[in-house]
Amino acid sequence: MRTDVFFGTSTLTAADTAGRTAVVIDVLRASTSIAAALCNGARTIIPLDGADEVIIRAKAYERREVLLAGERRMLPVPGFDVGNSPHEYTREMVEGRTVLLSTTNGTAALVAVQGARETIVTSYANFSVSVNYLVSALQRGSDVTIVCAGRERQFSLEDTACAGRLVRYLIGAIPELELNDAARAAMLIESAYGDDLRRIFSESAHGQALADAGFESDLEICAATDAFPVVPVYSDHRIVALSQAAE
Ligand code: MLT
Repeated sequence: MRTDVFFGTSTLTAADTAGRTAVVIDVLRASTSIAAALCNGARTIIPLDGADEVIIRAKAYERREVLLAGERRMLPVPGFDVGNSPHEYTREMVEGRTVLLSTTNGTAALVAVQGARETIVTSYANFSVSVNYLVSALQRGSDVTIVCAGRERQFSLEDTACAGRLVRYLIGAIPELELNDAARAAMLIESAYGDDLRRIFSESAHGQALADAGFESDLEICAATDAFPVVPVYSDHRIVALSQAAE
């Protein structure tokens, strides 16, 4: 049984995820927004590579069935219904609708995961349910690959700290778990911050950029551990809540 961490998608190859359970983490903010949307009753989320793709894909739906969603440089895309702020994904906004979502790093990381046996989306906001899911996956014999979306496909502090926390819980449940060096380094970073998630965000480049852009309240919700207890499962180019995936 093993768990490997990748600090960004730049070095990820298909062999790193093929046949495994993959976990995509983009704490600020795509993973948190995805958890919020599914927790509040979104029917499905389709991650897309760019705003143009969102507009093209929307043409296949009745307008009221879909939500055009996403950001560029953290700001909502002009003409879209919502940006990438978890606060926007309220029940009134999302219930029963298909969310067509494009973000800079988070959706790109999902699209980069190839050939996994199953892929889930994790953040602090759906942390405990993710741990439970992954412990069962490992016990069923599936190795785990944790992909930090990072920033511009490179290392980011907040995704790495969240990955480190995941690894700590997984090894707590399964002490014989084998780890790659990145998983061990992620645990060291996580232990330096402990439960002070706001400090992680205030010291990370993306956290600072979000605060400077006026998204301070998003940082609060992204630090709200287990606020949206849902396991988002990505399969066949769409994300649904685990309960729906099992149907
Ligand atoms: C991303 O996917 O790049 C992020 O979620 C960006 C953001 O904070 O909106």
